[in-house]
Amino acid sequence: MSVTAVVGAQWGDEGKGRVVDWLAQRADMVIRFQGGDNAGHTVINDHGTFKLHMVPSGVFNPDTACVVGTGCVVNPDNLLVELAEVEAAGVSTANLWISNRAHLVMPYHPRLDGLQERALSAGRRIGTTKRGIGPAYTDKAARRGIRVGDLLRPAWLRERLERALGHANDLLARYGEEPDDLAALLATCARWAEAIGPRIVDTHPLVESAVRGGKHVLLEGQLGVMRDLDWGIYPYVTSSNPTAAYAPAGAGIPATAITDVIGVVKAYSTSVGGGPFTCELHDEVGQRLRDVGNEYGATTGRPRRCGWFDGVAIRYAAWLNGFTGLAVTKLDVLDDFESIQICTGYLLDGETIAHVPDTFDQERCTPVYETWPGWRTPTVEARRWDDLPKLARAFLHRISELAGVPIRFVSVGAERAQLVVLDPLT
Ligand code: GDP
Ligand code: IMO
Ligand code: MG
Repeated sequence: MSVTAVVGAQWGDEGKGRVVDWLAQRADMVIRFQGGDNAGHTVINDHGTFKLHMVPSGVFNPDTACVVGTGCVVNPDNLLVELAEVEAAGVSTANLWISNRAHLVMPYHPRLDGLQERALSAGRRIGTTKRGIGPAYTDKAARRGIRVGDLLRPAWLRERLERALGHANDLLARYGEEPDDLAALLATCARWAEAIGPRIVDTHPLVESAVRGGKHVLLEGQLGVMRDLDWGIYPYVTSSNPTAAYAPAGAGIPATAITDVIGVVKAYSTSVGGGPFTCELHDEVGQRLRDVGNEYGATTGRPRRCGWFDGVAIRYAAWLNGFTGLAVTKLDVLDDFESIQICTGYLLDGETIAHVPDTFDQERCTPVYETWPGWRTPTVEARRWDDLPKLARAFLHRISELAGVPIRFVSVGAERAQLVVLDPLT
């Protein structure tokens, strides 16, 4: 039996899609366990280049069942666009299933997301993707959410929607906005039921039989631990838990069934959106990382904030997630740097600390760096550990040491094959 969670070890965009795409070549099932189409998971393989938002990154393997899990929030219109894009590239989506217990992102959720962001002062904005994720999870927690399975029960749907819409329209009115219309929303829901109805299933028997049957199951996380609702830089977080601890809950498997947790981590740091980011570089080095790494958001196109590798954050991530292995991505981006820095501590009130403090203190931290010589050699062709330059290996050893976790994969390019595999998962 192998159930592997693949999660973001930083602030998101670590290359989870790329890693899941590779692992999924021999997976029987890939389950997205949280988040919605705020995700932008880039996959480059023989089928083309894709920015997946909601579709699990295992979709390119026709034998892999792809499940949009119970812990997700689903915007059917955006999902349908994405399915069409994938299908246009000749990829079958016939094996994609949506949990009837997942929640819907309703048309008023993105509206409210935008309005709520606008109401915050400029320096306090979360910088959300405006996909309605926060408002949809808010409704879920407040027990007025509409679930995907409700689409298939018109009378029940109407009752649920009357309640949810009453609240949404109260909020819209507070912003001086036009209300959403019940009849129009019911018509939209009827269209969704028609379009995605055959994919809506109770994922419990499907997932249970895969896990019990010893199948290879991947749990694909969205975003990263530093934007986790509980452990991230609150309030500059997403409204779900991207940490591995939520993977079994969102996917619907026992916590004890997880056999591996792979933390995907860039060889440097990036973050998109608001909140503290201790290693952020505002200088030409940060710009160089952005240029070489092409650090622009896969969902919003926003420039990503860039900085050196944060060894304090990775230790925190390793503890909270229980990583059994790391997948270090974008090593090649550092190929030309004369010297490279690694943050090994945070300076707070004149003291060096080795742990991630809460947001308020994190805002006041400055990084303590150690400096490493660059390897100044291309790594994009490396496929084995020994192919990597000695200095690159030393740098990777240091990352592993700071995390206290062995490195299992090193990605040296965005394409599927550009991977050094130290220990393939069995
Ligand atoms: P995700 O959200 O974690 O799946 O990551 P994103 O797709 O948002 O961002 C990762 C970006 O880095 C994408 O543009 C990938 O194509 C790219 N990428 C992934 N791995 C590598 C790598 O090893 N080298 C380079 N140069 N690019 C990579
Ligand atoms: P992937 O899965 C990077 C950030 C937003 C914002 C905060 C909350 O591709 O790594 P939300 O729209 O979730 O309410 O925004 O989280 N954010 C991401 N940053 N990658 C993502 O997804 C993100 N999804 C949300 O910028 O700061
Ligand atoms: Mg992304």
